[in-house]
Amino acid sequence: MTFNPLQEKGLPLEKQLRNWHQIVGKPYKKQEVDCYTRTRQILMNGIEVEGWGFKHQFNRFMHDIDCEDKATISRLGRIENQQQMTCNWLCPADQSVLETTLGYEQVAVDLTAWLAQNEPDKYVKEVFDFGLLEDFDHLYRYAQFAYMTEGVEPNYIVHNQTDVIDGRPTQHHHNCNALRRRKHYDKTTASPQTKVNILTVLSGEQQTHNFYAEHGFMYGDHVLRETYAEIKDVEEEHVTMYESLIDPSETMFEKALLHEFTEVCNYYTCFEDEVDEEIKKIWEIFLDMEIGHLKLVADMFKKYEKRDPEEVIGSEIIIPCRFKSQKTYVQKILEKEADKRLAPDGEFYNSIDEIPDDWESYPVQERLAEISAPSENCIRLAGIYHDRDIVEASETLKNKQVTILEKGLQKKAVAHNTVMPDELQEMIDKHEEREEEKEKKI
Ligand SMILES: [Fe+2]
Ligand SMILES: [Fe+2]
Ligand SMILES: [Fe+2]
Ligand SMILES: [Fe+2]
Repeated sequence: MTFNPLQEKGLPLEKQLRNWHQIVGKPYKKQEVDCYTRTRQILMNGIEVEGWGFKHQFNRFMHDIDCEDKATISRLGRIENQQQMTCNWLCPADQSVLETTLGYEQVAVDLTAWLAQNEPDKYVKEVFDFGLLEDFDHLYRYAQFAYMTEGVEPNYIVHNQTDVIDGRPTQHHHNCNALRRRKHYDKTTASPQTKVNILTVLSGEQQTHNFYAEHGFMYGDHVLRETYAEIKDVEEEHVTMYESLIDPSETMFEKALLHEFTEVCNYYTCFEDEVDEEIKKIWEIFLDMEIGHLKLVADMFKKYEKRDPEEVIGSEIIIPCRFKSQKTYVQKILEKEADKRLAPDGEFYNSIDEIPDDWESYPVQERLAEISAPSENCIRLAGIYHDRDIVEASETLKNKQVTILEKGLQKKAVAHNTVMPDELQEMIDKHEEREEEKEKKI
């Protein structure tokens, strides 16, 4: 079914305030939840956080609009706040920070892979592919700790839908933040799909950053605390990268329209895809609420800008993400692009061999890892604890692991504690020997 949300009535704002029981519902059961119900819950929380924060920015920056319109924005902000609680409180208390973290990185991998394949703008698609391989590597790093500290195997969370193996090594994700900035789209020619795609992934990345900021210190293990710090810093780069794609000349009313439209499109997709009947009802109600929000900001857009909202968001719903396994696509990008880096021109990319010696990211990487790279220490620890790292992938992909690492590792600014390809091969061999010994004894 396709429909034009601007033609729908939606739930009127005065009917959107809910009581505490409605706001805080029953959490899902972590043992039973479908992994993509969890990713929808995580993503929608991020989208609500962005929707809430934007309304505060709107009212802080906008001075030349009617008081009553500012009041409407404040009322809408309250509703976004309540929706955020409902989404985030679906997460059960017994789901550990590391388990939730694996969920966050699964969101990043499978969402970004979907977006890359459904993005009409080739330049933006390339940015998605670039970010994809970094979050893919984060999933692998965190998976080590989930197993070492809590005995949680990655598939307990990702349900065999997402591979867990090294991507572009995390130590090489650190760049001069100025280089992270990309060329922005042109608001007059970019499609609504591109605009919604970017705002969706940006909201997800921003919330991932915030989650690590608020939870990364909650473990006693120092290497894990450092790993959260390291990956949180990469998420900061991802926020910088994705937000730079947005045309900065969009007006605040255009942005308001895009925010509500992004919420509408995402809840629409969640509602269509949801397998949990109780959670599906939440997506349905929230979709109705968001159509109500869209209607209100569309009226403001018409009033202040004297333009048709369809000029910005088009005339029909779009699909920002269908969560499903993206293993084949991710593997293709992994084999092709593990050695890709941000080019010094601030616009395109180079392979490792092409980057110049005075690349601005080298001093950043050298400074950050001058003692050691936490994301490499976690593989060393996994080697000590369990002979080798924790990997979940097809045999074909596992057989390419060392080659992919060779391709992804730089020659310059490599942390001294890096697990080099020959060392990784030794770990793998040692593990295989031990497994064979075990079988003989049995
Ligand atoms: Fe919302
Ligand atoms: Fe990540
Ligand atoms: Fe990320
Ligand atoms: Fe909204």
